[in-house]
Amino acid sequence: MTVSLERLRRCHFAVDVGAARTRVYVKGAGLVVDQPSVAAVNTRTGALIAVGELAQQMTGRTPGYITVVRPIHGGTIVDIEMAQRMLRHLIGDKTRRSLRRRARLRAAACTPHAADPLAQRATIETLVGLGARRVELVDTLIAAAVGCGLPVDRPEATMIMVCGAAATQVAVLSLGSVVTAERIPVGGEAVEHAIMQHLRHQHALLLPSQAVRPLQLALSGNGTAPHGPASTEIQGRDVVTGLARSVRVDTAAMRDAIQTPLTAVMDGIGKVLRECPPDLVADLPERGIVMVGGSARMPGLDQMLRRATGVPVYIAERPDVCAIEGLGAMLEGRIEPMLLGPLAT
Ligand SMILES: Nc1ncnc2c1ncn2[C@@H]1O[C@H](COP(=O)(O)OP(=O)(O)OP(=O)(O)O)[C@@H](O)[C@H]1O
Ligand SMILES: [Mg+2]
Repeated sequence: MTVSLERLRRCHFAVDVGAARTRVYVKGAGLVVDQPSVAAVNTRTGALIAVGELAQQMTGRTPGYITVVRPIHGGTIVDIEMAQRMLRHLIGDKTRRSLRRRARLRAAACTPHAADPLAQRATIETLVGLGARRVELVDTLIAAAVGCGLPVDRPEATMIMVCGAAATQVAVLSLGSVVTAERIPVGGEAVEHAIMQHLRHQHALLLPSQAVRPLQLALSGNGTAPHGPASTEIQGRDVVTGLARSVRVDTAAMRDAIQTPLTAVMDGIGKVLRECPPDLVADLPERGIVMVGGSARMPGLDQMLRRATGVPVYIAERPDVCAIEGLGAMLEGRIEPMLLGPLAT
């Protein structure tokens, strides 16, 4: 594998700081944090008021002196200090005290595929600020593939699609490494944005930020797939009058609206397949593509992928936690030693 399992086994905790959610795995304790990557700050005093779920609920509902911030943007930590404060609170005093007892605290983190050195540096610095003396970085694609139990270190193709909030990453893996990969800066957020824009332009309706997901669910099975009821009723606020109003939305039009961001994703998959060696492509009709990441749950996305590629598509059992569970498995030493160790002579 491109990661050193030996060094990962010596790590005490692992983090996956995503654009939407932050997850922390502590060796021996399991997944201890899975919360939105959000913090609410008092702008008068600079004090942190809330983090995670509670801060998320405050979005769009705060008085002037409170702002809700997201220290991670586009999959990269853009505000290191805030990310550290948020992580400290999410991890909690008890777990932090037990981690501090380690003589040389080591941490692991996953970073997006081909993350630039600045983004990697930001991740390392954030964890060093939390007390880590050494930080191991793991490609999210490898961590996620391990987390959903794919046989990554065999000499056969494993195709994985990590559908995050800020980006979608697609890769063909073989022998524990990435053979071809593509990172498309379109994820769950871009799809939600497309839905909001559509409602605003076509129906002059503003949707509260938390209402997009229920809308997606309402469209479930028919919004992105071409069956089911032709329209859905939704509540929002009129752009002009500011008053509450409900409209009937044509699901076919909604499908068209989210087509643009999804086309970029399909193009990226095409590119990965074109660049992939033919022997590995030949493995895919049998092995299929595995979808992980929170947005893998987006209704109809798997069918769309199946239509576009013609190979079987599977959604991982718990798609959103695959990457952190993969890191966890490597920390706990649950992953077999690499196939490609030097031959004994
Ligand atoms: N049931 C669902 N239907 C549609 N979208 C969903 C569902 N559940 C989660 N999502 C979307 O998944 C995204 C979060 O996924 P995930 O937790 O993998 O993101 P992340 O790891 O924080 O992001 P990234 O890896 O891009 O930094 C959000 O954009 C959210 O809207
Ligand atoms: Mg992620």
